Amino acid sequence: MLTRKKNLKQLKDSEKGHTSTYSSRYFKESIPKYELPERSMPANAAYQLIHDELNMDANPSLNLASFVTTWMEPEATQLISENLHKNFIDHDEYPQTEVIHNRCVNMLSRLFNAPEECTSIGAATIGSSEAIMLGLLAHKWTWKRRAKKGASPNIIFGAEVHVCWEKFARYFDVEMRVIPLEKGCYTIKTEEVESRIDENTIAVGAILGTTYSGQADPIQEINDLLIRIKTERGLDIPLHVDAASGGFVAPFTSPEFVWDFRLEQVKSINVSGHKYGLVYPGIGWILWRDEKDFPEELVFKVNYLGGWMPTYTLNFSCNGAFVLAQYYNFLRLGREGYTNIMNNCVANAQHLSEKLKSSGRFEMINEAQMLPIVALSLKDSIKNYSVYDLSSKLRERGWVVAAYTMPPNAEEVSLLRIVVREHFSRDMADILFEDIEKACALLEGGETHQAPTSREKHHPIC
Ligand SMILES: Cc1ncc(COP(=O)(O)O)c(C=O)c1O
Repeated sequence: MLTRKKNLKQLKDSEKGHTSTYSSRYFKESIPKYELPERSMPANAAYQLIHDELNMDANPSLNLASFVTTWMEPEATQLISENLHKNFIDHDEYPQTEVIHNRCVNMLSRLFNAPEECTSIGAATIGSSEAIMLGLLAHKWTWKRRAKKGASPNIIFGAEVHVCWEKFARYFDVEMRVIPLEKGCYTIKTEEVESRIDENTIAVGAILGTTYSGQADPIQEINDLLIRIKTERGLDIPLHVDAASGGFVAPFTSPEFVWDFRLEQVKSINVSGHKYGLVYPGIGWILWRDEKDFPEELVFKVNYLGGWMPTYTLNFSCNGAFVLAQYYNFLRLGREGYTNIMNNCVANAQHLSEKLKSSGRFEMINEAQMLPIVALSLKDSIKNYSVYDLSSKLRERGWVVAAYTMPPNAEEVSLLRIVVREHFSRDMADILFEDIEKACALLEGGETHQAPTSREKHHPIC
């Protein structure tokens, strides 16, 4: 949410507008920043002005804080730019895009092992946040059918969830029953779930690859608990798996690991196509095990684009290019390609993790066993600098490494997280490690910068 600037007249000229640049090659007057300019400007000048300002952004390849894809093949980029002008929601006008959308849903529901006898359904979304909202809303409506008059819904999840879970609860008026974490254990415990369940629980959430540490909640154990509760108390509580990051890793690196529709109570799964699905942002997916888990009354049928079109989305218009890019990756990579890439990411993350462990300065929170994510904190013996100092020192070299605190009740733990993505090679892992070592040494020595030697002074590098 952004705030409108007050009283533009009080701003200095340089704050108010883009001042003339490039020795007035393109324009002579200042171009307003906060109100629509009166006059037009040449396309190349507008392009150059914005392009140059964006040089201030971080280099996406060095952004290790993000899970989101920062590199795709030129053929994928070409497909995306050829289709950016198609509105995805216009299924009638762009029927073939819709056919491809359907194929992606089919491929994903099979990748997540939905039983063949089920009529699995699903849809593309802008990302996992929208997918989670849609998944949980469906569970709220299913609960409504059986709820007693005046009852209030609740949902159970751990404090390590992404903020979109709390958004869902607040925006759609569902009580959150949050399981706190504790120092040393950053996923939920099954027994903590049981004590919070009642007849108004719309769903339990479990994470495959938490945002904080890349670990997985005990999904299979929670499933078994929900089956027991169904048998003993007659409460059929669905399990939603947030596989935003893990959904495109685990099926390839550990196909024997059971977390998906193979488990009876897993009724819905979300996954981000723009994370390890290897597509640029924004694309996510929501899948339901069976159409009977989805309340039909949530689907709106509209005809203002020609033909009757069913929709179940929070937004309406968006481009279809990223669905096509996802399909491109599915065809281009297949299981073989995804398996090679994900195994390589995990191997690079483990290599980095080993090196960091051997430096003697870090406590590893996650050794990149599940996802290619290295989460670590500084040892208690390090007193004179923090993970925030280290993150900011690394920024001087261009690296973006997230530093943050764990959620309640483990807030005392501050950590760094390095998300290893496809483009992050073994060489880059070695360079990052050396930069971390140098940054730590500088911080340990009290942050000094070397003056140039007399030879460098007289022979500056040009
Ligand atoms: C576990 C988890 N769930 C949900 C989300 C939200 O995903 P998106 O950015 O695709 O909306 C994230 C984002 O990092 C995540 O890590």
